[in-house]
Amino acid sequence: MRKIVIEGGSPLKGEVTISGSKNSALPILAATILTEGENTLTCVPNLTDVITMLKVLRSLGIRSEYCHPNRVKIWVNGKVRHVAPYQLVTQMRASFFVIGPILARAGFAKVPLPGGCAIGSRPVDIHLKGLEKLGARVRMEHGFVIVEAPRLRGNLVHLDFPSVGATETIMMAATLAEGKTSITNVACEPEIVDLADFLIKAGAKISGAGTEKISIEGVKKLKGVDHAIIPDRIEAGTYMAATAAVGGEVLIKNIVPEHMESILLKLKECGVKIEISGNEARIIKNGNIKAIDIQTQPHPGFPTDMQPQFSALLALASGTSVIRETIFENRFIHLNELKRMGADVKLEGRTAIIKGVKHLSSAPVVVTDLRAGAGLIIAALAAKGETMIDDRESQIERGYENIISKLEGLGAHISLAGGQK
Ligand code: UD1
Repeated sequence: MRKIVIEGGSPLKGEVTISGSKNSALPILAATILTEGENTLTCVPNLTDVITMLKVLRSLGIRSEYCHPNRVKIWVNGKVRHVAPYQLVTQMRASFFVIGPILARAGFAKVPLPGGCAIGSRPVDIHLKGLEKLGARVRMEHGFVIVEAPRLRGNLVHLDFPSVGATETIMMAATLAEGKTSITNVACEPEIVDLADFLIKAGAKISGAGTEKISIEGVKKLKGVDHAIIPDRIEAGTYMAATAAVGGEVLIKNIVPEHMESILLKLKECGVKIEISGNEARIIKNGNIKAIDIQTQPHPGFPTDMQPQFSALLALASGTSVIRETIFENRFIHLNELKRMGADVKLEGRTAIIKGVKHLSSAPVVVTDLRAGAGLIIAALAAKGETMIDDRESQIERGYENIISKLEGLGAHISLAGGQK
């Protein structure tokens, strides 16, 4: 059982380099299914979720190799198998991304229906409606989604909600469809643009990624390419929020500031000093954090994936903050753990009312999901005394490359309990 021990109270100082984006790497790995030949992906974060996706690809007959901690080669030759294994897809929801590419390439795909997770029920109806619009027959059988279409046909697809995953699934499927597809009310996240950039290099005809409408002219084939994954804006935001909560001065390297404007704005509103220069940001925090209000929204709004980290930060603000979560119905479970550390929090439906306290204090706490875990790490770094974070399902490793050594490098007293590695 993985436990992280943190002795709080040391300000963070120094510099940290941000890894490649998990949420870009996962759909791009799935998109390699659409290609033929050799793909080389660089800046791939070495995370358990990435390893799970590589295992899914292997189960489909696609060979891959980590040639460097952050460079992965993927060879797609010949036929791709149709069935994604139950055990892997239920372990990581993002493996459902393979459904569109397998269908587009092979005309048939059988992928387990991913279950819900700690933050909500997370259905895939928008993905499937979109594939139906492209001409796929969709049915459920024994817990699997089965989609069939000898060749997909381009169409107009309007999403009921700008779902990140559904935008990616339909965009990938449409690249090999016959004719033109227009997808409206799409997600505009930077990870969507990164996926489109990868597909365009591979030979896809896509325009409009990053806006509310994506147009795709189907092509017959895609080739293998080299592509560097964009920096992880959520990892960057997490180190920024940690510096703001604990105090100190940290240079955050390898970021794209335009990808994280809503996060930077909210930090500034809290009273944090931020100096941007090129692809770096210096975060300087002296004095009190001001209370602020936040509402999570699709990009370019404030990301739900930063909400738990800001909950921890605002638990220490002067005054009362209000956070409204609009994306996931159950993304406040970490608040109970924050309360155990002395936070003054009240939950009213999807709104958290956080009255700032002067200090948090150490307590044993449990990680329920990846970003909740990041929020608890921030709380523990700021708290008085030694906090034991029970990350029993190793959730934090799913999204933060080398988080222990990166925080140690910033002067934090953090380690794995009992000599674990
Ligand atoms: C992606 C991110 C995740 C982030 C989320 C929202 C990846 C690997 N994960 O998840 O880190 O928190 O975007 O920014 O990129 N929904 C439906 N039906 C669907 C699809 C989604 O009702 O078919 C709902 C979901 O339950 C949720 C909301 O739409 O309430 C947003 O989900 P979505 O944008 O699809 O998130 P993911 O792609 O799963």
